[in-house]
Amino acid sequence: MEITVAGGGIMAQTADTYVVEVFADGRLASEAAALDAAMGGAITQLIQDGFLTGRPGEINVLPAGRRLKAKRVAVVGAGKRDGVTIDSARTRAGNLSRRLRDMNAGRVAIALQETSTALDQTDAGRAVAEGLTLGLYRFDRHHTREQDKPRYAIAHITLVETSTRRANAVQRGVTEGVILGEQTNFARDLANEPSNLMTPTIVAARAQQMAAELGIECTIIERAEAERLKMGSYLSVANGSAQPPKFIVLQYRGAGNGRPIALVGKGITFDTGGISLKPAENMDAMKGDMSGAASVIAAIGALARLEARVNVIAIAPCTENMPGGTATKPGDVVYAMDGTSIEVLNTDAEGRLVLADGIAYAKSKGATVILDVATLTGAMGVALGGVRTGIFCNDDRTMTQVERAAEAAGEKVWRMPLDPEYDDQIKSDVADIKNTGGRPAGSITAAKFIERFVGDTPWAHFDIAGVMSKASDNGVWVKGMSGNPVRTLIHFALGRARG
Ligand code: BES
Ligand code: MN
Ligand code: ZN
Repeated sequence: MEITVAGGGIMAQTADTYVVEVFADGRLASEAAALDAAMGGAITQLIQDGFLTGRPGEINVLPAGRRLKAKRVAVVGAGKRDGVTIDSARTRAGNLSRRLRDMNAGRVAIALQETSTALDQTDAGRAVAEGLTLGLYRFDRHHTREQDKPRYAIAHITLVETSTRRANAVQRGVTEGVILGEQTNFARDLANEPSNLMTPTIVAARAQQMAAELGIECTIIERAEAERLKMGSYLSVANGSAQPPKFIVLQYRGAGNGRPIALVGKGITFDTGGISLKPAENMDAMKGDMSGAASVIAAIGALARLEARVNVIAIAPCTENMPGGTATKPGDVVYAMDGTSIEVLNTDAEGRLVLADGIAYAKSKGATVILDVATLTGAMGVALGGVRTGIFCNDDRTMTQVERAAEAAGEKVWRMPLDPEYDDQIKSDVADIKNTGGRPAGSITAAKFIERFVGDTPWAHFDIAGVMSKASDNGVWVKGMSGNPVRTLIHFALGRARG
C-alpha cells in the first residue's frame, strides 16, 4: 500500500472513494461543505435525518453522483472536535483503514482538513499515515487457496490538503509515519512467521538483508565465536537444538564515533521450555518468543531510514530452546560472558540467560544506556494483561524518557519495582545466582536477574510477554503479533538524538 499527499482540495482528486470527516458538532468544514454542495445537499440531509451524528466509528457511504471525480463518498464520524489527539487520530485511521478495505474502497482520497486543523499538519500526516499502515497489516502469506485469501486490498491512499503549503507539512509527517508503520510491520512479519520458517539462521539472514538495504553494519556471531567470547549463558540455551544459534549485532552510526544506545532483544525462535518442558496447550504461541529480537532489529532499521542523528547498536541473541539429548539440564551451572556463574534450575527461564550475555556484550561495546526487550515471563501477562508493558528501570531520567517515548508511540507502559529485597529469591546455593526465583513476583525476580549483568549503566527492561500479541483488531493493533514496542524504541532514540 502506498500513501501519497496532494494539495488543492479533495474535489481535484480522481479516486474510487473519497473520505471526509464530520465532527459530532455537525459543522461541515469547507471540504465537506463543497462535497455536500456537489451532491445536492446529501450530507446535510443525512445530518437532518439523524443518520449522521459524527460519532467515532460511524460511516455513511454515498454514491458520488456525476459531478465528482469519485464513485463513492464515505462520510466518517470523527468524534468531538476538542477531543482530537495524535493518539486518537492514529487509532481512528487504523479502524478506518480496515473499514475501507472491507468495503473494497479501491483508490482512496482522504480529506485531511479537519484532523490537520485540530492538530497540526505534520502531526496529522504522521498519525494518519502510521495508523493506516499499521491498521492494514495482515499476515496471510501461507494461505495458498484463493478462497482463504483476503478478498480486498487497498493499493493507494492519497491524503489531501486544501493547499500546497499545508500538503508539504503533511508530507513530512507522512514520510515518518510510514517508516514507523512499515518497520513495526516488519517486526510483526518476523514474529508471526512460524518457527520452522524463522529459525535463528533465517532471522540473521533477514537482519543482514535489511542492513544491506539500509547501509548499516551487521555482524553475525556464530557459535564458535560466541564460545571464544565465553557467552556460556546464551550458548547453554542452544545446547538442545539442532539449529545453529545466531547472535545478531546491528550498528547504526548517525552521530559519528560516540558511544551507542544499546537495544537488546530476546531472540528465542521457539521456546519449548527445554528439559523443563512446557505443556502442549498453546505451546505454538512460543513461535513469538523472538518478538524482542524482531523489535530491536526493526527499530534500528527505522532509525537508519529516518537518518536519526544518534548511534545505536541492536543486539539480538537468537536460538531455539529445545529439549535435545545435549540440552542443558536443571541444576547445571553455566558461566556468562562477564564471568558470573548461573545455576540453571529451570531451563524454561531461558530468556534471562540469553539476555545476560546480550547485555554483557552491550556493555563491552560501551553502551551509554541499555534497553532490553523480552517476552520474558508469563507472570507479566498476569500482572498487567495485554494493555501495558512492564518496565523495570534503574534510572529515573531514563524512565522519564521511556514514558515520553511510549506516550508518543501510543504504546502503554507501567513502571515495576526492583527493590533489593527481591534479590534473596535468586540467591543460589551453588553458584553466584540462580535463574528462577519461584512463583512470587516472577517478573520482578526475572528483572533482578538481568539487573545483575547491567551494573551501573542506565537501563530499562521491557517485559512484553503480556502485550506481544493481540486476539482481535482494534485501532492500530491487528490480530496476531503486535510489534509492540518498536515505535517506543524509535521515539526513545529520536528523543536522545534531539538531546
Ligand atoms: N517465553 C516465556 C514467557 C512467556 C510466556 C511469554 C507466555 C509469552 C507468553 C519464558 O521463557 C518462560 O517460559 N518463562 C517462565 C519462567 C519461569 C520458568 C520462571 C514462565 O513465565 O513461566
Ligand atoms: Mn521459557
Ligand atoms: Zn521464552
